[in-house]
Formats: sequence, C-alpha cells, structure tokens
Amino acid sequence: MSEISIPRPTQGDVVDLILDDHRFFESLLRDLRDATADREAARAALSAVLIAHGEAEEEKVYPQLQRKDAIDEHEAEHGEEEHAEGNQALLHLLECKGTDTQKFDDAVEKLAEALNHHIGEEEQTILNPARTEVDEKVRRDLGEQWLARRSELLDADCGSIEFVTKVVARAEREGKLPDEGEEKD
Ligand SMILES: [Fe+2]
Ligand SMILES: [Fe+2]
Repeated sequence: MSEISIPRPTQGDVVDLILDDHRFFESLLRDLRDATADREAARAALSAVLIAHGEAEEEKVYPQLQRKDAIDEHEAEHGEEEHAEGNQALLHLLECKGTDTQKFDDAVEKLAEALNHHIGEEEQTILNPARTEVDEKVRRDLGEQWLARRSELLDADCGSIEFVTKVVARAEREGKLPDEGEEKD
C-alpha cells in the first residue's frame, strides 16, 4: 500500500484551514468509491485526518468560539454528537477486511452520509459565525493551536483501529451517540 500524504500546514486562518480539510475529506471519499484507486491508502489517510481534525476542533476550536459567543453550547454539543456518529461509521469501515466487498461499499456510503451532513452543517452554523464574530487575529491564533493539536494526534497514529475504538467508546460513555434505532437530526 502506498501512502497518501496528509497536508500539515503550520499556520493560517482557522476557518480556511478547516475548509481545506473538509475538501480533502471529500476527495478521499471519492477515492473510497473508486475501484481503481488505492482504497486501502485512502481509508488509512481519511481515518487519521478525520480523527485529528475532529478531536482538535472539540478541544481547541469549539470551546474558544463559545467563549467568544460566536456559537452557543447547543451548537458545540451538536457538533460533537455528529463527530461521534461519523467516528462510529469510520470504525465500521475500518473493521472491513477487504476493500472490494459490498460491506465495504455500504460502510463507505454510511460514512459519506454522516460526514457530508456534518461538514455542511459545520460550515453553515459554526464557521460562518466564526468569520463574522471573531476577529482575524483570534482566527489566526486559533488556526495555530488547532494545527498543533491536529499534528500531535497524527503523530500519535490516531487513525489506527485501536485509537478510533477508544474515541468511539468515550463518546458512548459521554452519551454522544444515539441509542440503537434512534435517529438524530
Ligand atoms: Fe470540521
Ligand atoms: Fe467537525
């Protein structure tokens, strides 16, 4: 398996940086649907960048935007619940042995559904207020903090099945995942 390199910028406006990652997620999802692509490599890259991105958002970005009154507690919590659902779908994808099975395709579609929903909502309800309610200096500081944490997690092999299992178990304990059969909007 060849490796897909994950961009590791070190500075920028947090809104632009997060948007760049969202576009990277979309291109990796396209690879995961493409039978001629290296789907093992795309899965490994998506797992790592998705976990690093979301965990760093929860630790650095959401709390700071809340302190600046750009978003409220409900929006932050809702974002975290959507991360938990996406991470659970990611775990199901990591559990697939082969990449050329119906099970793999179904797991990709479930993950794409959760992810596309979340990035759309995050861009509209979290990043938009960050553009208007938070000044540029804060967005740049936040960009640096978010990238530093993202990079630390990537170095810790956060895309491994063991790491993702722990992240999902924690979300479950914290009540961020819907009960079996219950749909969340
Ligand atoms: Fe995001
Ligand atoms: Fe997010």
